[in-house]
Parts: sequence; structure tokens; C-alpha cells
Amino acid sequence: MLTRCLRVLVIVCSTRPGALGPSIAEWLAGSLAHQAADRAVELVPVSLAELGLPFLDEEEQPSTAIYRHEHTRRWSAMVDAADGFIVVTPEYNYGMPASLKNALDYLSREWAWKPVAFVSYGNTSAGTRSVQHAKQVVTTLRLVPTGATLAIRIGDAVEHGRLRPDVGRDAAAAAVLDELVRLSHTLRPLREQEQDGTLPGPLPGTYLRRLGPQDAAEVAVLQRCCWVDEAIANDSLAIPALLESPEEIKDWLADWQSWGLWRDGRLLGMIRARRIDDEWHVGRLAVAPDQRGRGVGGWLLELAEAACDPGCQTLCLFTGARSQANIRRYQSSGYRVVAERGAPGVVCMIRPRASGTRTHSDPAEAPHGTSTTFPRDRRSSIARWASGASASEKRWPM
Ligand SMILES: Cc1cc2nc3c(=O)[nH]c(=O)nc-3n(C[C@H](O)[C@H](O)[C@H](O)COP(=O)(O)O)c2cc1C
Repeated sequence: MLTRCLRVLVIVCSTRPGALGPSIAEWLAGSLAHQAADRAVELVPVSLAELGLPFLDEEEQPSTAIYRHEHTRRWSAMVDAADGFIVVTPEYNYGMPASLKNALDYLSREWAWKPVAFVSYGNTSAGTRSVQHAKQVVTTLRLVPTGATLAIRIGDAVEHGRLRPDVGRDAAAAAVLDELVRLSHTLRPLREQEQDGTLPGPLPGTYLRRLGPQDAAEVAVLQRCCWVDEAIANDSLAIPALLESPEEIKDWLADWQSWGLWRDGRLLGMIRARRIDDEWHVGRLAVAPDQRGRGVGGWLLELAEAACDPGCQTLCLFTGARSQANIRRYQSSGYRVVAERGAPGVVCMIRPRASGTRTHSDPAEAPHGTSTTFPRDRRSSIARWASGASASEKRWPM
């Protein structure tokens, strides 16, 4: 499946013995089961009673993400791995229960740019005051509340401790999940940009991250639009990057180290590399047509070169035999054509592994005097990042 799966925590807030909360959550899970499967959503129940967080007992502020206690680290990992939340909450004294406020206060970055929906229950107000109270707190954490909520009046809906069936309530729950899913996908670029393992890119607002099989659909779109020029230049449609299905792309994404440059959820550029025998093979360098001439291609090429396996002394790439613009660009980066290695219609180009900072002699790659080359003293840390050795680095290695 190429649809991205979403992991949604269903947080049950009440901690009292015999509380109503668990049976509300149980009804919700049953009511949403089919829709969740259809939309590739994994609903993960989390009981704050079972989680057993003590009142916030960390010395450092949550924004530092320095957690001394195992219970905090466990909670942090659970929230970090989630793409959204459904909070099943009672109303206590016109407000949210202390258990929810405490669970929210424990963390910071882990909540950011994720949607949160509320299923409330109570007496006269059906828990709506609890939700209003919670909304002003969650927005501080950059959680994004859905407009759709579900409010259950206990007196109308509960019989012998369980919810009576109600198709109207089922429809309201479906609307909540639908909005949560749409928001979660929409907010993904905002969360991704701030996650560990991403680095700021060369253009404002861009960021770089490793590509994986889940990115196959976006890679397919970029390949189709980028290799049309190659098809025209070489008078051939027999170009793998043009023909590959998303499933085939998914397969090679699992085998190659690949990096994508993103902005606001759009894949602007990419490149892949891997060791084959004693050579470091670089390929699939692509820059979206409207982003060309801004140094992105040279920047990506250097990144893939910097990630070169230490055991390789030669960098190697292939391009169309009649792709003159590509051949010139690679020559300006130190590559030379190896006549005897190209398959029909393809040229092989190699260069020794870089020993220092390169300069772009192709003005199209470094317009107006801008330089995208990585300084020599940063190459090794960039290489570490690119090869995944320091995926937790949040900023450009300095
Ligand atoms: C401490 C406390 C405060 C309550 N305050 C309210 C309230 O302000 N508004 C309301 O509608 N119900 C209130 N109730 C009633 C709850 O809505 C009802 O007991 C509900 O079952 C509580 O959820 P729980 O069983 O999951 O803990 C309160 C209940 C408790 C225990």
C-alpha cells in the first residue's frame, strides 16, 4: 500500500476505579474500526490510568527534551511516534481532568503540529467545557484541535455503564476521524521539518531527509516530470526512471541510500547512492523543473558524494549518451566519460573520490556568485549525517 499509515493515540483520561471513560473508548474503537482500516489509520488505545505518570517530576523544562525518568521517556516515545490524537475526556468541575493536563505538560516538541480531536462526556454540558478548557492549553503546544468534536450527555446515552447504540453518534465519530486524518496529512510537512534526522536545505524553507519506501508515490511523480527532457534529448522512452511503477520505486528505495529535498510537503529534488563493488554509485539526481538553476542539483550531488563509503575510491554515475547538458555539468564537477563502460545509449562517468572542496564552474549551478559547495571542514560531519550515522543531529553539522 502506498498510502501513508497514520498512528492515532486514543487517550483515555479518567483514572478513577470504575470510571466511564474506558467503555466510551471501547465504543469509539468499535464504531471507527472499519473507517480506520479504510483510511490506513491505526488506533492505539492509551489509558492514562495504566500509564501511571506521577505529577510532573522532571527537573528540566519539557522544551529541553532532557528526560531523567523512564516514565517520561516512555511517554515521549509514544507521543513522538503518533500522527494524531483522540482524547476521550470527562468534565471535572467545568474543566479538563488533572490527568490530561499533567500528561500534556510532560512533553513539548512531541506534540507539535499534530491534530487532536476530543470525545467528551459529562452531565448537563456533555463535557464541552472540559474541551474548551483543553483547547486553550493544547494550542500552546502547537497541537491543532479539530473543529469536529463529539460530546456525549451521560443521562441521554448511557445505560448500565455502557453507551446505547446511536447511528447519529456513529456518524459524528466518523466525521471526527475524517477531519483528524485530513489534518494529520496536511500538517505532516510541518512536523517533518522539525523532526530528528532532517537538515535545512539550500533554499529558504527547504529541508532534506532520507527517502524511504513510503515516499515512492512522490518519487514517481518527480521522476516522470524530470526524465522527459532526457527522453527528448536521447530520442528514447526506454529510460527506467520514466517507466518505473511506484512499486518498483519502493523496491529500490529500500536498497539505496536516497535523499529528498522538500518544501511544504513537496518533493523538489532527490538523489540516490550506494556502494557497488569498490565504487560509490550516484544516480537519480533530479530537480523539479521550476527549481532549476538555483544550485540545488550541485548541492544534492555533493551531499551524495560526501556520503561515499570510506572503502570506495571512485565515484561513478551514468547518464544518457546524448544528454549533453548533464555530461557538461558532471564534467564541471570533475567526472570524465569512460568510453568502454557505457551500455548502448548510456555513458558512464567517473571521478576520484573528492579530496577537497570543489567549485562549480557551471554558472547554471551557482548563479550570481552563490556557492553551494560544502566547506572542507564540514564534509566529514555532513558525510556522517548523510550516511545516517548521526541521524539525530537537528541542524547542519557545523
Ligand atoms: C471530580 C468530578 C467532577 C465532576 N465535575 C463535573 C462537571 O463539572 N460537569 C459535569 O457535567 N459532570 C461532572 N462530573 C460528573 C462526571 O461527568 C461523571 O462522573 C463522569 O462519569 C466522569 O467520568 P469518569 O467516570 O470517566 O471519571 C464530575 C465528576 C467528578 C468525579
